[in-house]
Amino acid sequence: MLRGIDHLRDPRLNKGLAFTLEERQALGIIGLLAPLYKTQEEQLNICRVSLDRYKNDLNKYLYLVELHDTNEKLFFSLISNDVEKYLPIVYTPTVGVACQKFGVVYKRARGLFITINDKGHVLNILKNWPEQDIRAIVFTDGERILGLGDLGAYGMGIPIGKLALYTALAGIKPHQCLPVTLDVGTDNQELLEDPLYIGLRQKRVRGKDYDEFLAEFMEACIKRYGANILLQFEDFALGNATRLLNMYRDVYCTFNDDIQGTASVAVAGLMTTERITKKKLAEYTFLFLGAGSAATGIANLTVAAMIEQGLSENDARNRVYMFDIEGLLSNKRQGGIPEHCKQFGKEVEPSKDFEQCVKTLKPTCLIGCSTVKGAFNEKILKQMAQNAERPVIFALSNPTSKAECTPEDAYNLTNGTCIYASGSPFPPVKYKDKEYHTGQGNNSYIFPGLALGIIAVRARIIPEYMFLSAARTLANFVSESDLGIGRIYPPLSDIRKVSYSIALEICNLAYEKGIATVHPKPKDFKKFLKDQLYDLNYYSPLPAFYPYPKPPEIKVKSVEEVYKGLVLDPKTVKPK
Ligand code: NAI
Repeated sequence: MLRGIDHLRDPRLNKGLAFTLEERQALGIIGLLAPLYKTQEEQLNICRVSLDRYKNDLNKYLYLVELHDTNEKLFFSLISNDVEKYLPIVYTPTVGVACQKFGVVYKRARGLFITINDKGHVLNILKNWPEQDIRAIVFTDGERILGLGDLGAYGMGIPIGKLALYTALAGIKPHQCLPVTLDVGTDNQELLEDPLYIGLRQKRVRGKDYDEFLAEFMEACIKRYGANILLQFEDFALGNATRLLNMYRDVYCTFNDDIQGTASVAVAGLMTTERITKKKLAEYTFLFLGAGSAATGIANLTVAAMIEQGLSENDARNRVYMFDIEGLLSNKRQGGIPEHCKQFGKEVEPSKDFEQCVKTLKPTCLIGCSTVKGAFNEKILKQMAQNAERPVIFALSNPTSKAECTPEDAYNLTNGTCIYASGSPFPPVKYKDKEYHTGQGNNSYIFPGLALGIIAVRARIIPEYMFLSAARTLANFVSESDLGIGRIYPPLSDIRKVSYSIALEICNLAYEKGIATVHPKPKDFKKFLKDQLYDLNYYSPLPAFYPYPKPPEIKVKSVEEVYKGLVLDPKTVKPK
């Protein structure tokens, strides 16, 4: 056990003024702390008040980074106890700003930076990480951070933020999580010239060298942490995201959150809208703005959901139109359709006019994953109100500044008929005296619970049906009162319960499909999961007191009675 100042300096052990006098004496830290004792609850309250003093969200983020670095349990209990309030700080949108200014944010080692110059030595770098029992790695190459583009090594804020949610939202133990940035350079000229930049000052390495580096990293993770290590791809750019996922998904325990996590949360939202529109997804017509990683992932899973409802694959695909930066995905368009979304090409006339497509294709559901702020303009939203009695409008681009439309515009321009969700949070809006608290279609509802289930049963791979199942579990959490205030996702305050339910479902599925490797199969999944969760409460570093069993009542003879008449005379004892 670490003693003295070292105990206080370890964020996992430190509990500030919550050390009792007994503990302070035993650890040799008397005098190193102010004399008063404060409970964890009192400390949490001080944190809340301190954070409220900051007006600027980046300053709140910096306060939380400091807390994370000094007192881990206080950090996680603060976020877990009020997810609604603190999620926007540790996650989108503030984490986006933090990444853009990561040169200032970065003070202390958290996570591993592995650079292309380390090629051939990746396993050695992994060995430098002090923890042995890593179960999950979230890694990025920083090329497409949120909707903010190539942020290179500044992207490290994202794996750190995602893994903070693994613990805060699903109770995965923090020491089992490792954030990694694979630094292959950046094509962001501003960053290359930024004196504060912390990454390699060179253009991105691409092609064969990049692929070999990625392959070496994946293999090294297995060698270091075993075949069941969960590897979450995060914020890779379009050119690599789908390609790498397809390359590795059947071989490693891996998923791409931007593609599959987003798909799962969006399809959960779509499933919920069925309760309002009184129509099945198989009757909707979908039009996506953007046909990148997120959009294609959602489109594929929506097709899977429609197939479950009885449509053939072909019929299901025919209900999904997509529109990217080059226009409608038409098989006739010049330059063709990118490989990753070819399956959504249609035998229609090419068009570069999105407004016109909304008019002619008559989508009943519009999904934005384009990073184009305000792309769902007045004409488009008004047209949607004509296309459907209850048009579904998802503006999923992150951060908030990139959303395709605000909830305010969506309600105002569809006469309050739309069903709206965004990717980042928006404050409540009023339409005709009614207040709407729109939902956040964000993958944070999915990936922490999914990860908990996967690492608990030590699954070998993560098949697609797990994301559909997670979507169903999430959709089941939405209450009538949520729907009443315009929300198609449960409140963020329920997210821990959601994560736990998703994890339970994943455990069940993993054994049913034979991909779990923890044997024998646990008898009680609930207990099995609970036993693995991180305890948010402080504990005493002193050895636990354990009582001995009470001895049976036996009457003992008196000493006099036993020794009566016994003479002990040293003179009579002869040496041998
Ligand atoms: P991506 O780079 O893979 O795809 C972007 C797509 O938008 C491409 O198809 C591109 O052609 C298209 N696009 C760009 N400008 C356009 C324009 N002016 N008109 C039409 N299409 C245009 O990016 P990805 O990963 O698909 O992410 C897109 C957005 O979705 C980002 O803002 C990201 O933050 C957000 N997202 C939201 C998630 C959530 O949980 N809500 C999760 C993942 C991504």
